[in-house]
Amino acid sequence: MTEVKIESAQKTATAGLSVRPRRLRLSLALRRMARETELTPADFIYPLFVRYGSDRQVPIDSMPGCSQLTVDKLAAEAGEIAALGIPAVLLFGIPEHKDWHGSDNFSDDGVIPRAIRAIKEAAPALAVISDMCFCEYTDHGHCGIINSPENGHFDPALPLGYLLNDPTLELLGEASLAHARAGADIIAPSGMIDGMVAGIRSALDVGGFSHVAVMSYAAKYASVFYGPFRDASHSAPGFGDRAQYQLDPANRREALKEIALDVEQGADILMVKPAMPSLDILNEARRRFELPLAAYQVSGEYAMIQAAARQGWLDLEKSALESLTCIKRAGADLIVTYFAKDAIRWLGG
Ligand code: PBG
Repeated sequence: MTEVKIESAQKTATAGLSVRPRRLRLSLALRRMARETELTPADFIYPLFVRYGSDRQVPIDSMPGCSQLTVDKLAAEAGEIAALGIPAVLLFGIPEHKDWHGSDNFSDDGVIPRAIRAIKEAAPALAVISDMCFCEYTDHGHCGIINSPENGHFDPALPLGYLLNDPTLELLGEASLAHARAGADIIAPSGMIDGMVAGIRSALDVGGFSHVAVMSYAAKYASVFYGPFRDASHSAPGFGDRAQYQLDPANRREALKEIALDVEQGADILMVKPAMPSLDILNEARRRFELPLAAYQVSGEYAMIQAAARQGWLDLEKSALESLTCIKRAGADLIVTYFAKDAIRWLGG
C-alpha cells in the first residue's frame, strides 16, 4: 500500500519534467555535439622573452617551461611554434643596457628589432607582434619617461617620478617605427598611456607603415598577477608601482571607457588583461565592441596553475585547458598564453 503511494508520488513529481538537459550529457558523443566552445591553435598567441647575448636559454624559475632566449635561438623556436599551427608570437625584450629613455627599444639594433628580423627569416608565415612598452628598457623600470630634472623632461606642476604622458607618446611612435622597419606585423602598446593608439597609428601611417596593425592592451589592470613576468623580463619598477597608469582592479566602467577610447583611436585588436580576474570585462567588451578581442592569461595565472600542479593539488593539463576554454567562452577570440604550445599538444594537435 505504502509502496504504491510512493510510486505515484514520484510520477507526479516528474511528470512535468520534459526538459532534461542531462539527456545531452549521457555519452561522450552527445557531449561533443553539445559543446559550444572549442579551442583551436588559431586561438593562441605565444609570448617569447628575448634576451641579449648569444647561445643562451635561461629558464624562468617562477614560470616553469618558459625561458629567456637569445636571438640566435629564435629560429628553432619560431619553427616549432609555426609547426604547431600557432599564428603569432608576442615579443618582450631584455636588453643588455637600460637607460632613462629605454633607447634599446627604438634602436634598429635593439634586441627586439633583431629578434623580429630573425623570426621573419626563419618562419615568414608566423605573425610577429611586438609588445610596445618601455618598462623592460628603462633603468627605473617604468613604462615611459618619468618626471625628473635630470633627463630634460621636467614639469614642476607634476610630482617627481610621475610618468610623463606626451613625451612617452613620442617615444612610443619612434619605437613602433623601429619595430615596423624590422618587419613586425602588429604593434601592441601595453603601457596604458593616454592616446597611445592614436599616437602609434599616426607614427606608423606617416612613416609608411599603414599596413601594420595595432593590438591595444586596452583594459590593462594594475595587477599583482604580473609578478612572475617582471622577474622574467627584469622589468619591476625601481620605485613605486604602476597605479598611476594601469587600471584599478576595482573599476569596471573605467575599463570600458578605456576600451571605447582605443576603438575611436583606430585599434585593430582589443585586449583585456589579466584574463581570469577580468572575465566580466571581457564579456562586456565582447557585447559592446565589434573588433577582435584578445585576453592575456598572464604570468601569475600561469604560475598559479603550475605551482598547484607541482604540489599535486591540480591536474596541470585539465586546469590549463579549462581555464583557456572559459576565457574563450567569456568572449575572447584570441588568448595570449604561456600554455599555448602545451595546450595544442594536449588537444592532440
Ligand atoms: C609591459 C607588460 C607587462 C606584461 C605585459 N606587458 C608587465 C607590466 O605591466 O608590469 C605582463 C604580462 C604577464 O604578466 O604575463 N608593460
